[in-house]
Amino acid sequence: MKVTVVGAGAVGATCADNIARKELCHELVLLDIKEGIAEGKAQDMMQTATLLGFDTKITGSTNDYSKTAGSDVVVITSGLPRKPGMTREELIGVNAGIVKGVAENILKHSPDAIIIVISNPMDTMTYLALQSTGLPKNRIIGMGGTLDSARFKYQLSQHLGCSPSDLNAVVVGGHGDTTMIPLIRLATWNSVPVTNFLSAEQQEKIVKDTMVGGATLTALIGTSAWYAPGAAGAALVESIVRDEKKLFTCCVKLDGEYGQKDICLGVPVTIGKNGWEKILDFKLNESEQAAFTKSADAVRNMNDVLKTL
Ligand code: LAC
Repeated sequence: MKVTVVGAGAVGATCADNIARKELCHELVLLDIKEGIAEGKAQDMMQTATLLGFDTKITGSTNDYSKTAGSDVVVITSGLPRKPGMTREELIGVNAGIVKGVAENILKHSPDAIIIVISNPMDTMTYLALQSTGLPKNRIIGMGGTLDSARFKYQLSQHLGCSPSDLNAVVVGGHGDTTMIPLIRLATWNSVPVTNFLSAEQQEKIVKDTMVGGATLTALIGTSAWYAPGAAGAALVESIVRDEKKLFTCCVKLDGEYGQKDICLGVPVTIGKNGWEKILDFKLNESEQAAFTKSADAVRNMNDVLKTL
């Protein structure tokens, strides 16, 4: 099994680190456009192999895609991260060109790869990767909802005083501060609805804090977060390479599900050896469906910007 992570910035390097520690593949390639950074971080990680006890072989490459040849899974993290006060959407102009180029280069050397997109604005970058490569839709997966759902569970756990691992909760819709939809009505604490234990004010705060989860961290750190985004990418790689068929919220191409077409948006899907395999298409209530439609409209407007670039 071979995995490539494109982009050796904080998110890409953290994702690679998680993949190596879990020994999700024999060969792991870290690639970056900036001279030396991927080689350096790959070597640094390899020097943890005996300390952490993993056997994955990590190599770095400065923009030489031949090193990525034959990858089964490729994670794209390339592009600029957010600065404080910036929205993910403001990155579209620069990141669209980068993501398109990366996807094309990857496919030249790994025609059968499953591609995970992390670059922002993630919903539009996923759509762009699908459009520009013409790959079957199941092989392009946007990571956003996986991260947002993890953040939602964290926020819930803080109010419930419980382990985040005992919670089931999903965020659907776009991966934007105003487009994501934390489905608190359906969130459970070991199968008991969390709404039994939270006041209306608490519920509102949890939903709001989840939606601005990324922006809150960007303001604190001075750049976009990386531990949870990197771990979310690695969790998807794990479900693919081990064919786990675990359920994650991912940004995938919709063909009528949730009333949407010609768009990539976050919905619950199973992730296995074929990429995303099955969409859980269930009935949202009226206000959730209205929020989903509004989210889709906003993402579609963003996708339209691609035509002007
Ligand atoms: C975040 C970036 C990765 O939400 O979109 O932290």
